[in-house]
Amino acid sequence: MTRIEVVPSILSADVSRLGDQVREAVAAGADRIQVDIMDGHFVPNLTFGPLVVEAVRKVTDLPIEAHLMIEHPELFIEAFVKAGASLIEVQVEATTSLYRTVEAIKELGADAGVAINPATSVETLREIVPYIVLVNVMTVEPGFGGQKFIAHSPEKIRRLRAMAPDLEIEVDGGIDAQTAPLVVKAGATVLVAGSSVFGHKAGIAAGIAAIRKAVG
Ligand code: DX5
Repeated sequence: MTRIEVVPSILSADVSRLGDQVREAVAAGADRIQVDIMDGHFVPNLTFGPLVVEAVRKVTDLPIEAHLMIEHPELFIEAFVKAGASLIEVQVEATTSLYRTVEAIKELGADAGVAINPATSVETLREIVPYIVLVNVMTVEPGFGGQKFIAHSPEKIRRLRAMAPDLEIEVDGGIDAQTAPLVVKAGATVLVAGSSVFGHKAGIAAGIAAIRKAVG
């Protein structure tokens, strides 16, 4: 039985209390922390940079994922690895030299992951799968927290799992106690959750517990 990992993403955290929010998520059993990096070009939002990864690094020893929702990610992977990210995710749509970018991430000593937007086919990943540890199947159009889970996502996850039996399949966007079982049944093993954790009415620990309970 593969262990399902729960990865709070800080996009929906109270940034005025980021350290406390991360500590709460860690105490509540988060497996990793995801920092959502957005450049205002690849997605219509602007969020964090390497400084915030450094700040999160000071608060926890958990692995930090930097999800680069940015154009030309190859220009920034060194800064995010140096800031303390141990896994760098680049968008398959954001670079014309994905193989070189993935290899550069690994040469810097980090793990390499690829994220794929809702309208991009999993077929585009076939050649890069042997070189990466994780695919993040975006279950919303990236850019904002609190969006609605895209209903066709489980079918897409099943196709990816058939292509890559040993890969970590991460999902990101609209993941909560209702949608988590759907994606896990389809083959997802890593659940990114922002608003269902940091926005949970009973608090962060309750948000994480609800997801874990839902996936058994
Ligand atoms: C892209 C962001 C969000 C975030 C998760 O929009 O990367 O997917 O991590 O946000 P929720 O869990 O609130 O949909």
